[in-house]
Amino acid sequence: MGDRSRTEGVFGQPRPRLRPAWPKAEVPSYAGTMKKVAVLTSGGDAPGMNGAIRAVTLIAASRGIEVRGVRDGYLGLMAGDFVPLSPDVVGEIHSAGGTILGSARSARFRTPEGRREALQQLSRAGIDGLVVVGGNGSLTGLAALLDEAGGSLRGIGIPASIDNDVGYTRLAIGVDTAVNTIVDACDKLLDTAGSHGRAFIVEVMGRRCGYLAMAAAVAGGAHAVLFPEAGKDPDHLVDTVLRAIRSRSTKPRNRRCALILKAEGVDVSLETLQDAVTRKIDAEDLGMDVRGITLGHVVRGGRPSAMDRMVATRLGHGAMQGLLSGESGRMVSWASGLSFPPEITSPVSGDPRTCLVDLDAVLEETEAMLTGESSFIAWRSRVLGQLEEVFGQ
Ligand code: F6P
Repeated sequence: MGDRSRTEGVFGQPRPRLRPAWPKAEVPSYAGTMKKVAVLTSGGDAPGMNGAIRAVTLIAASRGIEVRGVRDGYLGLMAGDFVPLSPDVVGEIHSAGGTILGSARSARFRTPEGRREALQQLSRAGIDGLVVVGGNGSLTGLAALLDEAGGSLRGIGIPASIDNDVGYTRLAIGVDTAVNTIVDACDKLLDTAGSHGRAFIVEVMGRRCGYLAMAAAVAGGAHAVLFPEAGKDPDHLVDTVLRAIRSRSTKPRNRRCALILKAEGVDVSLETLQDAVTRKIDAEDLGMDVRGITLGHVVRGGRPSAMDRMVATRLGHGAMQGLLSGESGRMVSWASGLSFPPEITSPVSGDPRTCLVDLDAVLEETEAMLTGESSFIAWRSRVLGQLEEVFGQ
């Protein structure tokens, strides 16, 4: 046998390259002058927030930077409620739900006085960098704080909200776990629905965004989904539910059940919907009992999924890297293949799935998503609209 080169195939033919060479790993330099950073979690808690706190702490500590955790979000920031964080403190927190720092919503922080108090506390504690982990309101707070600081503070936001209503990121921390929790509940409800020939309308959180309902409907095999982005009026919503129930009412015994997901942001309450649907079903004698269930805060709890832990850790890494390379007024995004306008983004070295996006652009897109002016949301609604045809079968 001759001496075969590694690129030679079994018959001596050159072997085709099966995959392109991996890109060379870029090693982050972290060439910053940062001495002390603070991290806070704000707004509704989201599973995975602890993973972000841990990543920020581990990376900062490895560069000799001190870390302070802020208790209870912006409330604690205004009160100077700081706790030292170290690798020993955050070591195993990534698997726990909620946030070890606590979270809150603060009306006072929305005032210039409140933000000035916060800046005084940060300056008194010698903190020169801030990482804010939270949703739309929390990121808006960070942008306002940085405006007030006028360059004396560097700040980066990390999107964390089960609602997935933050612009320029494919995912926010907590979304994956929340979808899994809803799907798990749907599986259970379908078991009992099938046994009793019932229809369940399941309301899920999401504020004005229908993402959780949409994603869980697809993954959980729902027969209809109601989400605010579709802009349906109450009669149209009742019709959508009825259509699904009618089609399911003719199925064989163990399949005579229906699962309808309803986003909380839809313009009609669960009770009103349930009553209206029940009246019509009785009138048509479809023989199906309709129950309404609100999953509520259950969806915000629980141990973060592996996906949320990974996203949180990589977003935490991106935030620290951004701060250390002198960036500020940015949000680290789980872009995951999406490309954003180059004038509002910068890369996170070594992690092509994440990038830093201008915070003002993020807030503008977030607003457009909520008012229905975002082309991304229009596309999402169109896709779901097309699926509606096949859902009820
Ligand atoms: O933003 C997260 C969220 O869970 C929304 O889905 C929901 O509408 C809201 O927070 C509930 O807020 P609270 O916990 O203050 O009742």
